[in-house]
Amino acid sequence: MLVDVKPAARLRGKNAVDLTGALAPVFTALAACAATDLSRLRVTVDWVQYRHNFRAPVELRPVVGDTQLELAVDLRRIAGAPDSTASAVASALHAHRTGGAGARQLTLEEWGPTSRSLIWAFNALYWGHLRDWEEATGQDYESALPGGRSDAREDEPVRTTIRELFAVWDGLAERRALPEELYVLELGVGNGHQARTWLDAFRELDHEHGRGYYRRLHYLMGDYSAHVLELARATVSEHAERVSSFVLDALRPTTSLGFLRFKVFLVYISNVYDNLPTDEIATIGQREHLVESRAHLPADAAAAVAASVHTTPDALGGLVEKLLRLGPALLAEAVPQHVPDTRAAVEFWRAIWAALRLQERYVPLHGLDTYAIAPGISGELLRPLLATGSDVRMHVANGAAASFAETLPLLHPYGRLQCHDLFATDPHQYRDGFRGPGKYDGSVVNWVNGPLLAHIGARKGFDVAFTPFARAGSSITTMTADVRD
Ligand SMILES: C[S@@+](CC[C@H](N)C(=O)[O-])C[C@H]1O[C@@H](n2cnc3c(N)ncnc32)[C@H](O)[C@@H]1O
Repeated sequence: MLVDVKPAARLRGKNAVDLTGALAPVFTALAACAATDLSRLRVTVDWVQYRHNFRAPVELRPVVGDTQLELAVDLRRIAGAPDSTASAVASALHAHRTGGAGARQLTLEEWGPTSRSLIWAFNALYWGHLRDWEEATGQDYESALPGGRSDAREDEPVRTTIRELFAVWDGLAERRALPEELYVLELGVGNGHQARTWLDAFRELDHEHGRGYYRRLHYLMGDYSAHVLELARATVSEHAERVSSFVLDALRPTTSLGFLRFKVFLVYISNVYDNLPTDEIATIGQREHLVESRAHLPADAAAAVAASVHTTPDALGGLVEKLLRLGPALLAEAVPQHVPDTRAAVEFWRAIWAALRLQERYVPLHGLDTYAIAPGISGELLRPLLATGSDVRMHVANGAAASFAETLPLLHPYGRLQCHDLFATDPHQYRDGFRGPGKYDGSVVNWVNGPLLAHIGARKGFDVAFTPFARAGSSITTMTADVRD
């Protein structure tokens, strides 16, 4: 049996976790289960820092076509819960042996790569109906972000970016090479407060600078949620003459913004890449596997939610499908016998989301080149990152990779892409911490595979750099991509 403990930093210091005590009930339960081949078992120990997440404290993950099994435990939740841990291990092993896992859950989709799970439809639903959700919870989405609000609202880093932009523009102007139209593109705008911070600072600094750049500025806001764009437009209404907005998928920006090729001086992105669909790849015994998942509700939660909307658990899947297709207001119109008004529909949505979990399994890959990270980006790019010397499981950041690769061609030769986000900046960070997925209110969060993006950027002729965000205690990293000199 292999035991892989990832959160090494939790094992020492003032608040060290008692690893031996926490794992004792796991091993006792394993020892009691004579039918399990322990030589084919890996126990992986994570510390899932997200209070709301898609995992049970104890989970069993098969390797498809193999007798290997992974028992995954969340150290944060099993520590101090010996009885429930022992019984969770015993019942997971029993269910696996008897094929009875299905009886304990309501499965909502077929197995598939996590980037295609319906959790992403929930994510889009959240941004598409943000106001309904925020009204129900009484909290805005920013309070769930690291630090309680978007770091993109910090004034000083914004001013630094703008001053650097002015320096580039001054240089081009001296050589009579500065275009009349000065394009800045923001992808994933949320409530528009970071755009507001940026535009306010820009206008003020331009006034001091005296070159009239503000009147030449075209600030383009792109988001896949028309609703979010409307909120953002209202927030920046003072700058309405300088702002245009586009409904677009950040994964395919050139579909609507192809006319901007080589024209954009700054692409500005914050807290978006960590919100885009991603797969995970795991090496197990030096062989690469794709993590497949399927969304489900534990049986007791399914029964409770079904009762709350006057139906049976069997009918919940159909209601969830309708919710994702129609949104809460139209759902209330379509099935008033279950949810009489929008408020009740949002309550239903929140209850499903709170209970939603991802069951996982590992599917062997027959060569990384058979796996596509994004259109035109082969899985082979992951090879150097996976060579950490031991088993590793990492995010592919498919959505971020696609978005990044498609956005770079929009940049002016003196342009820059700047992105504030949760980045893993070294493949070894996947060995020592849990990088998602977690739930932020109604949305999904996963750390972004920085080394992979750097690799993609380098192949396209860009220098990619990572700098810790300039705010004490921030877990955000700023990635910049500039055309290589
Ligand atoms: C966490 S919010 C970040 C908002 C803002 N940039 C900030 O820092 O507060 C994520 C934003 O990305 C948008 N978004 C998520 N996935 C997207 C996609 N595939 N295409 C376009 N926008 C997307 C959401 O609608 C939302 O506005």
